[in-house]
Amino acid sequence: MKVLTDAMLLSGLLLAPSVSGSTGQTPIDHPGKPFSYVQPRNTSILTPYGHSPAVHPSPKTSGKGGWEHALAQAKEFVEKLTLEEKSWMATGQPGPCVGNVLPIPRLNFTGLCLQNGPQCIEEGTYSSVFISGVSAAASWDRKLLYDRGYALAEEHKAKGSHVILGPIAGPLGRSPYDGRTWEGFAADPYLTGVCMEETITAMQDAGVQANAKHFIANEQETQRNPTYAPDANATTYIQDSVSSNVDDRTLHEIYMWPFANAARARVASFMCSYNRLNGSHACQNSYALNHLLKGELGFQGYVMSDWGATHSGVASIESGMDMTMPGGFTLYGEMWTEGSYFGKNLTAAVENGTVSTDRLDDMIVRIMTPYFWLGQDKDYPSVDASVGPLNVDSPLYTWLYNWTFTGPTNRDVRGNHSEMIREHGAASTVLLKNERNALPLRKPRNIVVAGNDAGPITQGSAIHSNYEFGVLANSGSSGSCRFSYISTPLDAITARARKDGALVQTFLNNTQITEEGMTSLWNPELPDVCLVFLKAWSEENVDRRSLDLDWNANAVVAEVAKNCNNTIVVTHSTGVNVMPFADHPNVTAILAAHYPGEEAGNSLVDLLYGDVNPSAKLPYVIAYNESDYNAPLTTDVLTNGTYDWQSWFDEKLEVGYRYFDAHNLPVRYEFGFGLSYTTFDLASLTGKAVATANLSALPAQRPIQPGGNPALWEKVFTLTAVVTNTGTVDGHAIPQLYVAFPKSTPAGTPPSQLRGFDKVWVPAGETKTVTFDLMRRDVSYWDVVAQDWRIPTGQFTFHAGFSSRDFRANTTASFVR
Ligand SMILES: *[C@@H]1O[C@H](CO)[C@@H](O)[C@H](O)[C@H]1NC(C)=O
Ligand SMILES: *[C@@H]1O[C@H](CO)[C@@H](O)[C@H](O)[C@H]1NC(C)=O
Ligand SMILES: *[C@@H]1O[C@H](CO)[C@@H](O)[C@H](O)[C@H]1NC(C)=O
Ligand SMILES: *[C@@H]1O[C@H](CO)[C@@H](O)[C@H](O)[C@H]1NC(C)=O
Ligand SMILES: *[C@@H]1O[C@H](CO)[C@@H](O)[C@H](O)[C@H]1NC(C)=O
Ligand SMILES: *[C@@H]1O[C@H](CO)[C@@H](O)[C@H](O)[C@H]1NC(C)=O
Ligand SMILES: *[C@@H]1O[C@H](CO)[C@@H](O)[C@H](O)[C@H]1NC(C)=O
Ligand SMILES: *[C@@H]1O[C@H](CO)[C@@H](O)[C@H](O)[C@H]1NC(C)=O
Ligand SMILES: *[C@@H]1O[C@H](CO)[C@@H](O)[C@H](O)[C@H]1NC(C)=O
Ligand SMILES: *[C@@H]1O[C@H](CO)[C@@H](O)[C@H](O)[C@H]1NC(C)=O
Ligand SMILES: *[C@@H]1O[C@H](CO)[C@@H](O)[C@H](O)[C@H]1NC(C)=O
Ligand SMILES: *[C@@H]1O[C@H](CO)[C@@H](O)[C@H](O)[C@H]1NC(C)=O
Repeated sequence: MKVLTDAMLLSGLLLAPSVSGSTGQTPIDHPGKPFSYVQPRNTSILTPYGHSPAVHPSPKTSGKGGWEHALAQAKEFVEKLTLEEKSWMATGQPGPCVGNVLPIPRLNFTGLCLQNGPQCIEEGTYSSVFISGVSAAASWDRKLLYDRGYALAEEHKAKGSHVILGPIAGPLGRSPYDGRTWEGFAADPYLTGVCMEETITAMQDAGVQANAKHFIANEQETQRNPTYAPDANATTYIQDSVSSNVDDRTLHEIYMWPFANAARARVASFMCSYNRLNGSHACQNSYALNHLLKGELGFQGYVMSDWGATHSGVASIESGMDMTMPGGFTLYGEMWTEGSYFGKNLTAAVENGTVSTDRLDDMIVRIMTPYFWLGQDKDYPSVDASVGPLNVDSPLYTWLYNWTFTGPTNRDVRGNHSEMIREHGAASTVLLKNERNALPLRKPRNIVVAGNDAGPITQGSAIHSNYEFGVLANSGSSGSCRFSYISTPLDAITARARKDGALVQTFLNNTQITEEGMTSLWNPELPDVCLVFLKAWSEENVDRRSLDLDWNANAVVAEVAKNCNNTIVVTHSTGVNVMPFADHPNVTAILAAHYPGEEAGNSLVDLLYGDVNPSAKLPYVIAYNESDYNAPLTTDVLTNGTYDWQSWFDEKLEVGYRYFDAHNLPVRYEFGFGLSYTTFDLASLTGKAVATANLSALPAQRPIQPGGNPALWEKVFTLTAVVTNTGTVDGHAIPQLYVAFPKSTPAGTPPSQLRGFDKVWVPAGETKTVTFDLMRRDVSYWDVVAQDWRIPTGQFTFHAGFSSRDFRANTTASFVR
């Protein structure tokens, strides 16, 4: 999304005021720190990739999996369309929404409004800012994920969006430097898969189409789009977009896995990504779209391009792409042009027989089936006119069609969602360290609040840049939000502290703290607690320069901790940060709050003062040093060849904790880790086969359904364990199940992989039984020769515990002789 920023960076041609807010990360955050440079792989030595086989024709939708009736309605609708209307339905138009499909008044079709984004309505006034994707993942809470998705979709619907451009399973988090991992969920396919399925189900239950993005292997922002020659209307590449070169097993077991959950949840659409995949643009990679997505995963809806990711007409259409966005009057490189590879070109291509009417009809049937399935043809709210002027993707001056608006403008769609957002913020904030009973706070009398992340946003509440002052509860570019208000940590702490008659002293200027110190200014008595608020910005189209927190954060902590023996650090961040201050003896507690949305302050105070017992867990690994992470981005290519940007996914399955475990590397805080104000234990892990003790190694070949072969989703094994609250505070435990595959599994299999989790309320001293149901897919690996999921022979080990490195009980089982 947000083609403008991509192109604007190349030339200053289009600096319309409405788009100038988008800027990259300013060097001030990490002065002098260059992007890490990665030597491109020597392709003359290793060339197993760089090619994606052609698979044609594009499979037709059959509406199977519950869309049969809607499919019939869609077909009836398509029969009434002219060729031009069909072509334009597959082609976006500038208009009020981020993506627009033109209305056809003759048929009472009001068009489609496609809107950002995954945390809020990007253009939404009087709308809520929910917790971010990474926060939602950190909750490990299926109900939270569902409730969040439902409420977000309710707001989108009330503003007239037919399609929410989310949720996100790619980037998955191969590299912690990717600028938009916070929009997605976890650096683990299983957890992300659950998040995708719950979110999509909820959004569509609320009547709005979800969009699973970005398909596929979209794991870096740098060079995600081609660089174009400046004088050729941006159709000539200087260098093409980066190619993600991924082997088949890795693609299935890591990157495609959560998208299979999305297909299974009957997501209305998929978005093909900017990157190339094995050398072909993801939006014209027929192997990925026709074979993997529409074939193997049985996806029945439509594939839309990311904004400007279309690089051909006929080739993309034959490769399985059904809708181009933003379509006509598109920004190619650095100029707006009325041209589109689709639109009139598509009409011409059908007229001269290059594209069959059959294929075009299937494209429109795929687009209209979810529309009818969700009842969007009946009494759907009109588009709120207030979104139009806020839409930076097609500024008003680009609109060609005479859009008319009905219904009130600036509708307040928030309902009582703020209460839920507050609960979700507390449920998704991870307690990483808590020593000397620092937390919960017990009526401290003298509180210091420090750091530029603690207070109000002083430069407007809808800033698309890394502002210096103010809490960071959301981040930049197309996933950014317009806050109608924000509960800041400072407000919430002050309000709470006043009840205790406490003193609150604030130091919000990081430069002042680090250059001038604080103690000369504060009340001479030693503070009871010093709360330090740090932040880390990131955004689409820009990879992170550093895994340190921004604004000289480490020095801020050092200065505070030097003077305060009860320093509590709170981070608002995109995800992975190295935390060199974690070993400081005066840093008694650390909380990672990610991007918690509009109730940032209140949700945090609920935890700090113990009204809520923390339960969230890290959805990624916090290592000791930046250099400990594998799979760095390809951030620079010093040669001039058109296709020189190549990202080799040579680490294969060793993504996130899988890498650290495979190499037995120490980490500071492991995947799945998070503290509570109580302690839990887990015991008695036992497993039981569901139907037959001996399974076939390969699944029965059953007719493909959305999500793929239904046999893969069948429950084959159930494990139970007993969780006890061994402390004195009631709380939620999050028991996790990891599987170690048998020795017979091909080399490269990670030592342990998440395959189950639950969130259970356990009162102090009590015990609860938890159940983990395993599907066939959970105990299979992708067999590249059989081209199927195979259960290996031999003994599996199952580990249950409270993180990827805290196994409290184990058991074994074999499924295949
Ligand atoms: C790449 O590998 C080939 C074959 O070993 C070698 O001849 C060539 O010099 C290498 N190129 C670079 C840039 O290292
Ligand atoms: C990419 O290339 C690798 C290596 O040849 C192959 O295993 C994989 O299936 C290819 N994937 C796609 C989508 O072309
Ligand atoms: C459009 O809506 C009007 C009013 O509900 C109805 O009379 C008409 O039949 C509809 N036309 C089509 C093509 O569905
Ligand atoms: C770019 O497009 C414009 C409008 O279509 C056209 O007039 C112009 O000649 C084109 N320039 C180049 C260098 O192709
Ligand atoms: C057709 O596609 C070409 C690019 O192949 C583009 O330059 C041209 O403007 C398009 N025509 C229309 C009418 O959109
Ligand atoms: C058919 O039309 C398309 C779109 O204008 C064009 O790209 C293609 O070359 C044409 N093919 C023939 C055979 O005329
Ligand atoms: C656009 O719509 C307005 C309001 O309905 C109407 O007055 C105007 O004539 C229309 N303009 C065009 C170019 O159709
Ligand atoms: C922050 O403190 C520095 C150092 O004292 C000062 O130069 C700067 O103006 C301050 N910023 C603001 C916004 O007060
Ligand atoms: C910890 O804080 C106390 C003040 O409370 C200070 O005297 C001490 O030097 C600090 N320790 C370190 C290691 O900075
Ligand atoms: C900080 O130091 C004071 C004074 O020595 C002591 O009373 C207090 O317990 C210390 N706080 C922590 C958290 O260690
Ligand atoms: C790449 O192109 C630039 C500009 O034309 C030139 O200065 C540079 O030497 C080229 N680099 C290589 C490695 O060919
Ligand atoms: C379970 O397995 C892990 C990893 O092999 C081991 O570290 C742990 O001690 C085992 N736990 C029990 C209770 O056997």
